[in-house]
Amino acid sequence: MARPKITIIGAGNVGATTAHWCAAAELGDIVLVDIPQAGDMPKGKALDLMEASPVMGFDATITGTSDYADAADSDVIVVTAGLPRKPGMSRDDLLGTNAKIMTAVSEQIRVTSPNAIVIVVSNPLDAMVQRCQQVTGFPPNRVLGQAGVLDTARYRTFLAMELGVSVEDISALLMGGHGDTMVPLPSCTSVGGIPITQLIDPRRLDEIVDRARKGGAEIVGLLKTGSAFYAPAAACAQMVEAIIKDKKRVLPCAAYCDSEYGVGGYYVGVPIVLGADGVERIIELNLNETEAAAFQNSVDAVKGLVSTMAELLGS
Ligand code: NAI
Ligand code: 2OP
Repeated sequence: MARPKITIIGAGNVGATTAHWCAAAELGDIVLVDIPQAGDMPKGKALDLMEASPVMGFDATITGTSDYADAADSDVIVVTAGLPRKPGMSRDDLLGTNAKIMTAVSEQIRVTSPNAIVIVVSNPLDAMVQRCQQVTGFPPNRVLGQAGVLDTARYRTFLAMELGVSVEDISALLMGGHGDTMVPLPSCTSVGGIPITQLIDPRRLDEIVDRARKGGAEIVGLLKTGSAFYAPAAACAQMVEAIIKDKKRVLPCAAYCDSEYGVGGYYVGVPIVLGADGVERIIELNLNETEAAAFQNSVDAVKGLVSTMAELLGS
């Protein structure tokens, strides 16, 4: 039986590192796609990574290309194509350029891998995933976005640092769009089963939430040349694994919500069950008044972004 075929479009920092994590976890054969102007870069990264396989002990064919024929009939596709932000830029500043890139990439996906499940990563995430679904025309369960796994990982890291406990014991959930409006849910945050509210006072918890919210900008400020990639790529690999191994993981992802949470046809970060069929279920929580208002604020920000994108694309 052939190995699953995983294509990663955009062989830059997030793309190549996603390939690295997926290969190390032996999730399947990997194709790294970039634009012709990138020259042999994807080929070089693919070969370099494959040459690590005897040392790391994984079996996978890793190919670098700018020809979508090499990516045909992929099972899972991760889209990281697009500009990252630089210091002083917000994710939304990337909208015009990345919407055009997402359109071109999604047209290729539609034709060459009509049955794939697509994980979008490019920013601004919530608008890019909407664009990918519009252009591919794939059912919404087969197009989703990576943001919540990363945002929650940052939050869990900061909580573990604060409490001096293992990250493995921190269970948490953030909802909403991938931006400053993301919504923390202290009622869904626990440490070894103990509610977080019994371990950290509310003011300090707010500070930690705020750091998670601004986690992307913190890394941009330190790197100065681009944005985060190790943790984002690890988040992508976890989502790829959930699909390929049909794990039915409960993860916060950008999923298409229509009647769910009363969103009305937009992608927004919600807890889902992620398995072989992609988004198999959206879990609807009973939000309290404060959480519901914060979530609505986040949904409104996503709607604004999608409407600006439509204006920029003239569609
Ligand atoms: P990068 O600049 O290292 O890599 C982007 C790659 O995309 C480049 O190699 C570029 O040549 C390629 N590319 C551009 N147009 C393309 C096209 N039409 N087809 C194929 N490849 C194309 O950037 P990095 O750091 O990998 O970030 C990629 C994107 O992911 C950015 O938009 C960034 O903001 C976003 N991002 C999103 C995160 C999330 O949580 N959703 C986390 C981290 C990054
Ligand atoms: C991040 O949160 C850039 O969206 C990316 O790091």
